[in-house]
Amino acid sequence: MGIKFSLLSVVALVLAVFLGVKAAGLTYFFGVVIPYIAIFTFIGGFTFRILKWARTPVPFSIPTTAGQQKSLPWIKHSKLDNPSTPAGVVGRMILEVLLFRSLFRNTKLEKYDGPKLAYQWEKWLWLFAILFHYSFLVIFVRHLRFFTEPVPGFVHALDSVDGMLQIGLPGLYISDLVFIAAVTFLFLRRVVIPQVRYISLPADYFPLFLLLALGLSGILMRYFTKVDILKVKELALGIVTFHPVIPEGIGVLFFIHLFLICTLFIYFPFSKLMHLGGVFLSPTRNMPNDSRIIRHINPWNYPVKTHTYEEYEDHFREKMIEAGLPVEKE
Ligand code: HEM
Repeated sequence: MGIKFSLLSVVALVLAVFLGVKAAGLTYFFGVVIPYIAIFTFIGGFTFRILKWARTPVPFSIPTTAGQQKSLPWIKHSKLDNPSTPAGVVGRMILEVLLFRSLFRNTKLEKYDGPKLAYQWEKWLWLFAILFHYSFLVIFVRHLRFFTEPVPGFVHALDSVDGMLQIGLPGLYISDLVFIAAVTFLFLRRVVIPQVRYISLPADYFPLFLLLALGLSGILMRYFTKVDILKVKELALGIVTFHPVIPEGIGVLFFIHLFLICTLFIYFPFSKLMHLGGVFLSPTRNMPNDSRIIRHINPWNYPVKTHTYEEYEDHFREKMIEAGLPVEKE
């Protein structure tokens, strides 16, 4: 159900832009209006969600503890997996963001020999998650050549490293292959493993289909149907310099590609993809585990009217003695 719905949504998006450009000639709408809506929705939505998270009070010390807490001097402290200082937190965060360390520690619980349970090696998700994110990053940075003039040196450098296999003309990018393989793996994992399929929702399938369609349309455009790069660059530069133009003769495939990325940008702030910003604001990751060093006091604490045992005994002492109950003060 979730799969069909998500797939049909992406097909509908492609059809909408195809008909819009081919039949109705809405090139300005899809080439200028939608990109601006996408850029502003992305920036506005992203900022809004980050500010909302940043303003949320964190009354408790709740870091994830994934190793030995700082304790007595002769007990080895796990500085990265259970950081007790801001420097440790930064170290853990860098490893998390750049290397997906917590995903690397992933294991699989499996039954064997009847009732026995064992944790098993499971690094595939980590591997393909890393491949997906880094290939996306490389493609994203390479695309800067459309939006900059002169094109910065690091974009050229990345381009030549990514295209070093020098297969075919135009040269094949390694990142293109890796991107498609990784997105395909991430999708298959959701449909093939019953437990993962059971918990998967349209919100999980839709971004995968969208990314796959985005990658495939780009690949089709580069290696098969071809597109006039100079005209694309004129359009892209027009958008970022706020002098939008629609050069004549850009094929519909480009508008499909552009519309898909615009959809991704509009969808981004309202979806799980916000983990891009959210990871930095997650109290389970950005707090040091120092609750044995510093006393954390809930800022929302208000004076509570209490009734201590002493007061209780004062109140009922005589009755308690009469009934033969022990009392602390005679
Ligand atoms: C970050 C989002 C995007 C992704 C993931 C993406 C993905 C891809 C991929 C995988 C290709 C195949 C060739 C290559 O890797 O360079 C491609 C090509 C292309 N993309 Fe994108 N794209 C994105 C954004 C955009 C945007 C915003 C534009 C608008 C200027 C654009 C315009 C193009 C063009 C013109 C090509 C053909 C390049 C060529 O023929 O060398 N893409 N895209």
